[in-house]
Amino acid sequence: MKRLLITGAAGGIGSVCRKRLTHMADTLRLSGRGDLGEPAPHEEIMLCDLGDKIAVEELVEGCDGIVHMGGQSTEASWDVIRNANIEGMFNLYEAARKHGKPRILYASSNHAIGFYRQSQNIDATAPVRPDGLYGVSKVFGEALASMYHDKFGIETACVRIGSCFPEPTSHRMLSTWMSFDDFIRLVECVFRVPVLGCPIIYGVSANDATWWDNTSVAYLGWQPHDNSESHRARLDSEMAAPNRNAPDAIYQGGMFTADGIHEE
Ligand SMILES: NC(=O)c1ccc[n+]([C@@H]2O[C@H](COP(=O)([O-])OP(=O)(O)OC[C@H]3O[C@@H](n4cnc5c(N)ncnc54)[C@H](O)[C@@H]3O)[C@@H](O)[C@H]2O)c1
Repeated sequence: MKRLLITGAAGGIGSVCRKRLTHMADTLRLSGRGDLGEPAPHEEIMLCDLGDKIAVEELVEGCDGIVHMGGQSTEASWDVIRNANIEGMFNLYEAARKHGKPRILYASSNHAIGFYRQSQNIDATAPVRPDGLYGVSKVFGEALASMYHDKFGIETACVRIGSCFPEPTSHRMLSTWMSFDDFIRLVECVFRVPVLGCPIIYGVSANDATWWDNTSVAYLGWQPHDNSESHRARLDSEMAAPNRNAPDAIYQGGMFTADGIHEE
């Protein structure tokens, strides 16, 4: 690619993308709301709020691909979620429609299906069961991506990210963890596969403890290498496993299922 846009480039995953996706494009265009520091020679920085339609149009113009990591990443008030994850997604897809229809990797979330029980195994065909307003906004994003694919041919990988952190930090994360290495491998596959379509992908490493079936996206050639099992002994020594009646032990979305509505 000539130019790859990374939104949310100051965030936890976006900052990893900034460092580790340099081989994917001549130029990385980095965006966020806050300070992104000085651009390296292969970088461009364009700060903007995703809720600003005109700014998002300028942001997307001239990009061949988008890794969309920007957005509200936890439960929050409706105003915050609406601006970043509803208006922001619409602005991004409208900009993509008008400016060359770049391929998009969209950071959806396991919270789109958080009310499934941990005893259930699900695949991409399972009906959504969001566990809060944040999860609902991620479902909206998936629906938007699907519509822009069917109607306008924009291809999107909707990645229902589990827990993408340096290492699992809870027992639930033994099932939801995705290493940064496996995420970067996924980004490479998404942008290299000749025909992507608009698949739902569970963003999770090759953990022994798993609830999610990615058989339908075997065509991507993505083979996660890491396995949370190597962290189990450490976690067991650091903390007690959650009580079996606790949301963190019952639902795939964990504690998000027990959160209320965040008022202003
Ligand atoms: N980290 C995970 O395990 C995980 C799990 C599921 C889904 N996700 C999704 O992946 C994406 C990245 O996650 P993360 O952990 O890096 O989150 P993060 O909160 O660290 O980063 C998100 C970035 O988006 C920016 N942002 C928020 N609202 C914005 C707005 N209105 N305009 C412009 N920028 C805005 C924030 O400033 C932040 O830099 C998010 O969309 C999140 O919902 C992450």
